[in-house]
Amino acid sequence: MQISAEKVEFGQTNYNVVLYEDFDGLSYELEKIQNVSKYIIITEKKVAKLYLDSVLLELEKLKIPVGVIFTRGKEKNKHIDRLKKVYNLLIELGTDRKSVILALGGGVIGDFAGFVAATFLRGIRFVQIPTTLLACVDSSVGGKVAVNADKGKNMIGAFHQPELVYAALHSLETLEEKEWKCGLAEVLKHSLLTGGVLFEAMKTAKFEDVFDKNALQIFISESVKFKTSIVAEDERETGKRAILNLGHTLGHAIESLTNYKKYSHGESVAIGLVLALILSKEKAGFSEDAFQEVLKIMQNLKLPMQDKSLSPKKLVEHMQHDKKTSDRQIKFILLNSIGEATWGNVISEEEIVSAIKTQQALA
Ligand SMILES: NC(=O)c1ccc[n+]([C@@H]2O[C@H](COP(=O)([O-])OP(=O)(O)OC[C@H]3O[C@@H](n4cnc5c(N)ncnc54)[C@H](O)[C@@H]3O)[C@@H](O)[C@H]2O)c1
Repeated sequence: MQISAEKVEFGQTNYNVVLYEDFDGLSYELEKIQNVSKYIIITEKKVAKLYLDSVLLELEKLKIPVGVIFTRGKEKNKHIDRLKKVYNLLIELGTDRKSVILALGGGVIGDFAGFVAATFLRGIRFVQIPTTLLACVDSSVGGKVAVNADKGKNMIGAFHQPELVYAALHSLETLEEKEWKCGLAEVLKHSLLTGGVLFEAMKTAKFEDVFDKNALQIFISESVKFKTSIVAEDERETGKRAILNLGHTLGHAIESLTNYKKYSHGESVAIGLVLALILSKEKAGFSEDAFQEVLKIMQNLKLPMQDKSLSPKKLVEHMQHDKKTSDRQIKFILLNSIGEATWGNVISEEEIVSAIKTQQALA
């Protein structure tokens, strides 16, 4: 049964982001994509074990040949070195310009398979079938696809919009606690940027709500509604799309300083959100009341808010090496208030160090 649907529409781009209870609407949604010679599923073993059979059952109804490529699901495998093997497998499977890649998995698979689709035969069509909360609310929507290089995450990428994003609520039930938190951090980020219904829902949200279908539906559909509206306005991040990086200046620095091992992406972003809000209070008039409200939400969602063990100076060094840092100037997304963000705010090293110390002193 379909729960919600959003349309992404701009220029030549036009696709649906649909949320169903299960995979039972997949063949119906895929049928809307015309002129398909073959479906190639790119997935990883853990997700395949859980959901590949359900997806294959749906594809059988379409009577179009199907191939499956298994890759590895961890961040370190979203790497340029793994592309060669997958390109060769695509050739062996007879993939042509009318073939459609189905990315079945979390953000790692979505980014990797999306990059493969963007580059194979100079670009073929693809569909995102996200199976983590983070992928449902964030990475599957918006067309950013990428792989990592040895010296930098997401350094090799493209803008390649999918033909369809199909999420099945039921497939999230098997996620581990860490992955739920990762997605909840991105939902919180969206709620701070958009305010309205989503922020109202966050005010009373508890971590346990991820097991409540109604709450989860709101988290996903409102996040998607917000993200699709931003992408439609600014696909290539020449302006407003930058606000989606709220919390990421520190988030990326934490990931790189801790070698992507200590926290998930979302947990790093959660800590980054707190720093962005401390700076927003100091620089953009964000109120103390709203700040305390957000901290309470984070407590209820069991999200990390600071890490006393990380050196503020080292974090700043990592911020300076981020690919989005220009001329060593470190920029932050700040909030004037809930739902009102500004981007491109240059903050000095001293101010950042001092704000991180304030954050590390939080109870
Ligand atoms: N393209 C974008 O706009 C964008 C935005 C945000 C994040 N990202 C990228 O997304 C990636 C992170 O994505 P993620 O958080 O989904 O991580 P992930 O894909 O690594 O998945 C997390 C873990 O969950 C497992 N998993 C996936 N689906 C499952 C399920 N249904 N049940 C049980 N286990 C399941 C995976 O095997 C993995 O171990 C990063 O590479 C990040 O750069 C991209």
